[in-house]
This record gives sequence, structure tokens and C-alpha cells, in this order.
Amino acid sequence: MELNQQSLGRYFKLLADQRNARQSAIASSMGVDRSLISKLFTGAVRAPASYERLAEHFGVKMEDAVERARALDDMLGVATQDEREGAYVLAIANEKGGVGKTTFAVNIAAALAEHGERVLLVDMDSQGSATEYLDVPADGVMLTEALRGLRVGEELVPVTTAHGFDLLPGGRALAVAVADLLVSGAGFTRLRELLEPMRGSYDVVILDTPPAAGVMQQTALGAADGVLAPMVLNAFALDGLVALQTTVEQLAPHNPGLEYLGCIIANLDVRKVSQRHIKRDLERHEDALLWDVAIRTDARVEESALERMPVCAWASKSKASLDYRRVARRIASEVLGHG
Ligand SMILES: Nc1ncnc2c1ncn2[C@@H]1O[C@H](COP(=O)(O)OP(=O)(O)OP(=O)(O)O)[C@@H](O)[C@H]1O
Ligand SMILES: [Mg+2]
Repeated sequence: MELNQQSLGRYFKLLADQRNARQSAIASSMGVDRSLISKLFTGAVRAPASYERLAEHFGVKMEDAVERARALDDMLGVATQDEREGAYVLAIANEKGGVGKTTFAVNIAAALAEHGERVLLVDMDSQGSATEYLDVPADGVMLTEALRGLRVGEELVPVTTAHGFDLLPGGRALAVAVADLLVSGAGFTRLRELLEPMRGSYDVVILDTPPAAGVMQQTALGAADGVLAPMVLNAFALDGLVALQTTVEQLAPHNPGLEYLGCIIANLDVRKVSQRHIKRDLERHEDALLWDVAIRTDARVEESALERMPVCAWASKSKASLDYRRVARRIASEVLGHG
């Protein structure tokens, strides 16, 4: 049996919902931590034995569970990891501003490229910060025209950066696309259609999204296979995450395959007592799915933005570079399924 943990997780979650079984009740009857149940439901666990125990708990044979999970995927029109043609589309999002989305998207794109993945970064923000970070002019005209449906039959031509990955530049023009997408209602599907012919050329497409819910965020999430939320440990840390998870749930009718992959601390200063407290709270808030790897605060990151290059290129041995590489390896193995 080929274990597809995301499909199985989706099936067991549905089963739990149908039976009104709470995660905490399932966990205590299985004698495991509640966080394991929520990880099993989102497909974040790779151990077949854990899914077998869950099947046993629900009184379902594992072969039947696999079959029903496949049927559920078919019904929802979800492409599974084995069937997906080409790139995984990974949205970097958080409805709070200034939490490190762009910095994370640019540097994780660079670290994934260094790891050997074929990467396309798409700057979906009219601020154009990811584009400027990479020293590319941030006009965003090509992406804007494509999103407005004005480039029919013409392929998008990404810019090749100096750091081993490609970029579709964003920038001011995108504000015009926002108005158009709002009027036409094409937001949920447009980007997915645009990326379709490019998916075969990449292993991962990373979307840097603007802060706050809105058409551009919906456009990104409508095209994404998964969403990962970078965050900072401040008093409002949970607000942006809860809002993002609500948006993901609301998008389910338009993009049923979209997975909330969890949140990751993108600017961690362990010397701050307040951050340690908030981190502990976040770990208890199991639905947030906090990753156990993080990016530490590092002055080299700000410098690298000023120098217009990823930190792995600017200060290869810095703390942050090591962290981005570690997280990139985690994304490659657990999200892209590349061993
Ligand atoms: N690991 C880090 N170490 C030090 N500074 C960092 C780190 N990560 C992010 N920053 C800084 O945090 C600030 C905000 O980051 P960034 O612009 O990436 O956030 P954002 O969420 O994309 O913002 P917006 O919501 O406006 O798009 C920047 O000044 C950036 O340099
Ligand atoms: Mg940003």
C-alpha cells in the first residue's frame, strides 16, 4: 500500500466530524498527545503505524480507509502527491503585516534552490518587496496583465535571478489587477490557470502574498496546494493565524485540496522572555501547528535585504542562513516529498 498521509488524514478528519468525535477524546482513548491527532489529520505525520492505530480506533480496516480516502479525493477533485503533475504551489501567507512573509519567501526560495529544487517565486504584492529584495525592477506589469486576462495565449516569462531560481516580479501595477479580479470574480481560478503551463518546469512555486485578507490573497490561495504562515512572537501572533485558517476553510469550495501546513517562527529572539511565553502558548494552541524549526533573528537578514540578495548568498554561514537551509530541507522532504 502506498501511504498518502494527506488523503488519509482528510478521510479520518471527516470520519471524526461525522461521529462528533473531538480530537482530545480520540487522543485520550488512544493514549497519545492531542497534537499527534491534529498532525495526523493534516497529514503531517509520515508514520504508517500511527494511521493504522487511528484506523483501529475508528474500527475501520486500513485497506478500506485507503480506498475511502482515495474516493474522497476523487469526489473533491484533489490531486494527490503521487498524481500531481509538476510543481507544488506553496503560498506564504499571514493576515498580519510585517511578520516576515517576504523575507521568508525570498530566503526559502534561495535555500530550496541551493538544495537542488527548481523554484519559481511569484511576488503577488503591490509593494513589490520580494522583487526589490532580488534587485529586479518592481513594476509587476506582466503579472498584472496576465491576472487581468489580457495575455491570452501568451506565456508568462519569469526573470532568472542570480540565485538559482526564477521570479515573476510584482509591484505597483498589481493594484490595478485587484480591481479587475474583484469585478470579474476570476480571482479563485486565474492564477491556477496561469501557472498550469509552467508547473512542469519547476518543483515548487512559492507565492509571496500581501498582508490582510483580500482579492490578491484569495487569488494566491485559490492557486495553492498548501499554505505556510511565517510569524513573529508578539501579542497579536495568534490573530493573523486564526484569520488565515478561517480564510482557508472558506476557500474549501473553490480549492478543496488546499492544506494549511502550519506556522513557523520567522524572526525568533529567544533572549526575549515575552517571546518564550508566547511560544509556549502557541505550542499549546495545537490547531496552529507550530513547526519545531524556526528562523532566528539575525542582523545579517536586514543587511542582505539592503544588499539586494538572499542571506544565504550575502552571509552564507550566518545563523539565519543555517536556519533557512534547515527549513528548506524540511519543506523538501515533508511537503514536496523529496526524501
Ligand atoms: N530572521 C530575521 N532576522 C531579522 N530580521 C528579520 C528576520 N525576518 C524578517 N526580518 C525583518 O522583519 C521586517 C518585516 O519583514 P517582511 O517585510 O518580510 O514582512 P512581511 O510580512 O512581508 O511584511 P508585509 O506584511 O508588509 O508584506 C523586515 O524589516 C525584515 O528585515
Ligand atoms: Mg511582504
